[in-house]
Amino acid sequence: MGTVGGGTVNVLKRNAEEIARRAGRGIQITHAAARDINKARICDTTDITLTTNPRDVVNDPDVQIIVELIGGDTLARELVLMAIGNGKHVVTANKALIAKHGNEIFAAAQKQGVVVAFEAAVAGGIPIIKALREGLAGNRVEWLAGIINGTGNFILTEMRDNGSDFGDVLAEAQRLGYAEADPTFDVEGIDAAHKLTILASIAFGIPLQFEACYTEGITKITREDVVYAEELGYRIKHLGVARRTDAGVELRVHPTLIPERRLIANVDGVMNAVLVKGDAVGPTLYYGAGAGADPTASAVVADVVDVVRTLTSDPENRVPHLAFQADALSDLPILPMDAVETAYYVRLRCEDKPGVLANVASILGDSDISIEALLQKEPQKEPAGDAPATIILLTHCVNEGKMNAAIAAIEALDTVTGEVTRIRLEHLDAD
Ligand code: HSE
Repeated sequence: MGTVGGGTVNVLKRNAEEIARRAGRGIQITHAAARDINKARICDTTDITLTTNPRDVVNDPDVQIIVELIGGDTLARELVLMAIGNGKHVVTANKALIAKHGNEIFAAAQKQGVVVAFEAAVAGGIPIIKALREGLAGNRVEWLAGIINGTGNFILTEMRDNGSDFGDVLAEAQRLGYAEADPTFDVEGIDAAHKLTILASIAFGIPLQFEACYTEGITKITREDVVYAEELGYRIKHLGVARRTDAGVELRVHPTLIPERRLIANVDGVMNAVLVKGDAVGPTLYYGAGAGADPTASAVVADVVDVVRTLTSDPENRVPHLAFQADALSDLPILPMDAVETAYYVRLRCEDKPGVLANVASILGDSDISIEALLQKEPQKEPAGDAPATIILLTHCVNEGKMNAAIAAIEALDTVTGEVTRIRLEHLDAD
């Protein structure tokens, strides 16, 4: 009975009549758990038995569906497995739980013939699980890319629009209730990695493999990079990318330059968006609120309606948890980052004298890395004297292992100062 729990009660009550017309029967919340049952809430709990012990709800013989909105993956895991063991269906918004323990949970659910629904776990109110699992079922999904953490997107948007400081914007996101309890989950990309893991499994029919997801946050993105990217016609977004290649699946979360003309590059603030490329349909884009009480409740309630509709169907004839039949999952490996191919934005600080750029260019040339665009910025005057010049390069697509080796060689040049900044770049075109 936290924020999303309160939203769920409100949406179910407000739209009770419409929901009953859709589900074919009424849905009632009878029993709920809260840490503090006397706390003021955003919803009316008059008809609900409140308890501080969530096991009371999970063990209540009159309850058919458990809605888990606790978060975390310890108590939540125990309760969800207990609910499944008791033969109850489960609806959860818990991305960490599904990404890390989904394989175990779905196996237990299948054994018991119950459904575990998790639309609210990814991109809040956007029905992306439904779209991927059912709406695109005729396609071979080739790749998907999503802005799936509202807090990160809010921070990057504010940095670009107002030149705000990272820390101040994060504090604002926390005040507005978008950020996770532990904000490092948002800014270090862990929250997005949970969600991407789930999307990739449903898109490609592979088991959930959260540990294999490459995860890089936005804490190192500077205002400078945001401005230079813009000068080159790009926006920096925190993207989750999952791509199927012949060798395996790319599964990666990191800051990414995207051409500013792409619709997804213009998804700002706390909003989320997921771009999915299917072989038959081409690119499709799903946009909406990725967090907040009512938007997340929209997905939770849709799942409850789905579960209610399946109460009378045979377990064998239901939509599989991971879109593909459980015994037909593929063992396509998740590729190590060194094997990934992408383009790059590279920023380096160097001395402003003849031959410096030629040295950098020859390292890239020798590594077979092709330069797509180049900017050199004048040295900036600082109180301490002349700061080095700044060079910004965009490369064509290259293997990450090769790029890392080239960056190490550039950093080793005497004329180059400090670390080279490297941000991946995706064109996200229809091919
Ligand atoms: N902290 C998450 C976000 C909330 O900012 O997107 C929804 O998962």
